[in-house]
Amino acid sequence: MTKGPASLTDRPEWQALVGHQKDLEHIHMREQFRVDPDRANRFFISGGGLSLDYSRNRTTDDSLAKLMALARACDVPGRIEAMFRGDAINLTENRPALHVALRAPEENPLVSEDLDRMEAFVEDVQQQRRTGRTGKAFTDVVSIGIGGSFLGPKLVSEALKPYCLGQLQSHYVANIDGTHIAEVLKRVNPETTLFLVQSKSFKTQETLENSKVARDWFLANGGTEQDIAGHFIAVTANAPEAVEFGIDEDNIFPMWDWVGGRYSLWSAIGLPVALTIGMANFRALLSGAHELDNHFRHTPLEQNLPVVMAMLGIWYSNFWGAETHAILPYDHYLRSLPAHLQQLDMESNGKRVTQHGEPLNYHSGPVIWGGVGANGQHAFHQLLHQGTRLIPVDFIIPLNSHNNVASHHATLFANCLSQSRALMSGKTLSEAIEELVGEGLSEDQARSLAPHKVVPGNKPSNTLLMDKATPETVGALIALYEHRTFVQGIIWDVDSFDQWGVELGKQLGKGILPRLTGDSDQSAGAGDSSTDHLIQLFRRR
Ligand code: F6P
Repeated sequence: MTKGPASLTDRPEWQALVGHQKDLEHIHMREQFRVDPDRANRFFISGGGLSLDYSRNRTTDDSLAKLMALARACDVPGRIEAMFRGDAINLTENRPALHVALRAPEENPLVSEDLDRMEAFVEDVQQQRRTGRTGKAFTDVVSIGIGGSFLGPKLVSEALKPYCLGQLQSHYVANIDGTHIAEVLKRVNPETTLFLVQSKSFKTQETLENSKVARDWFLANGGTEQDIAGHFIAVTANAPEAVEFGIDEDNIFPMWDWVGGRYSLWSAIGLPVALTIGMANFRALLSGAHELDNHFRHTPLEQNLPVVMAMLGIWYSNFWGAETHAILPYDHYLRSLPAHLQQLDMESNGKRVTQHGEPLNYHSGPVIWGGVGANGQHAFHQLLHQGTRLIPVDFIIPLNSHNNVASHHATLFANCLSQSRALMSGKTLSEAIEELVGEGLSEDQARSLAPHKVVPGNKPSNTLLMDKATPETVGALIALYEHRTFVQGIIWDVDSFDQWGVELGKQLGKGILPRLTGDSDQSAGAGDSSTDHLIQLFRRR
């Protein structure tokens, strides 16, 4: 591997941002809005069916120019092209990251072939040419997978529930906590359930153990070894292991090593989604993502949604000390978006060395967290408003709901807007005193209570809009965050497509399990007294 560029923090563009942050430190966004009525118009961009209002950020036009100068200095445009070209941008694994190819089947015969195969399978199930072992139509699909083989498809299954054709229900099993699979199996009928074993590596302990439980349950409930072929499908890049597990070769859908697990929902990993919403809707999901890909590839940085969102994230993480970033979808259907983005971003950019192995002297990815609005307003928003930490927020809300229940959507929208406004403008001490006096408190009482009512404001947020959560806009939304993550990885000079850090826990787990079950020599310690003590407690239970 060749050595990387000069340290990021030595770049003049970085240093310019350090100075610029000091200039803005004491400027309140309230004031920026007051003196600049056009702010909301200027800080508003669109692409791929999504629009972003980023006016409520601690930025000026100059900040944006400086952030884009840093992006150019780090060759963001060149790296974007390298990704689309299929260069081996995942340096530590020496392979491309070509999830974008999965969204452009007409340009990629291999992808197109896979999609056609998925389509034939989905139609066979839907039209009951393929049925359960007793000839009954399939009613349930249980997807067994974890991480990227779980979070993306689960998110999309929920997000596109209004598009479900109604014939099949999807269920997801991820955890090695036996409760997860036990509860799912209670709800399904072995005669009419299709199992999808979803694992790129086909080596993941949780997935393999849960799949064995599903197979045993199937066999214990009337199925025979011969029937397994009709009820168990695998999606994997490791076909030999799947065959070894007992899955019929014809029932294996491929995954490619040039698509990372957390970027794989667009591949056959999306099968549980396609089975429930149909192939036309699944293709619409891909085309929405593809539209966003085109926006990302061809739009100047200043109007480029993923680039602008990425650089704002860098601004807060590296220049304002923000340690976390909140994702707040105001849409029940998008409730699993924070969990998916957590893996996408934290597994991609939770790195400590550059692509070339040198320790970082700046922070890489922040903690990504969040939850659905308006519920969070009655739970954790207090800390956003009055806590001591700076937490940038992404509000995500469709203009239209699939469910026009009373005036709920307008109320939901009002809640979202009131939160972003409150975060931005806050409430001053004099406003708090005036309000309390207006409520009948004496001047003294008002002065004593007012500090508790002060909301400093000046808290940044983005508002991301779409017309409605459709296959196209949901596809675009997920692709937007994938590219945001990629751009931040470029700036931090990390490999956003590997995940070596998760391996250590897996390795150590292999040594601990036989000690817990008594299958290995107990005399040697595990290496630390805490682990030994907890192993003893487990064995004595
Ligand atoms: O443990 C992390 C991880 O490797 C993720 O990157 C991946 O999405 C997940 O496990 C599941 O992996 P697989 O699809 O190979 O079972």
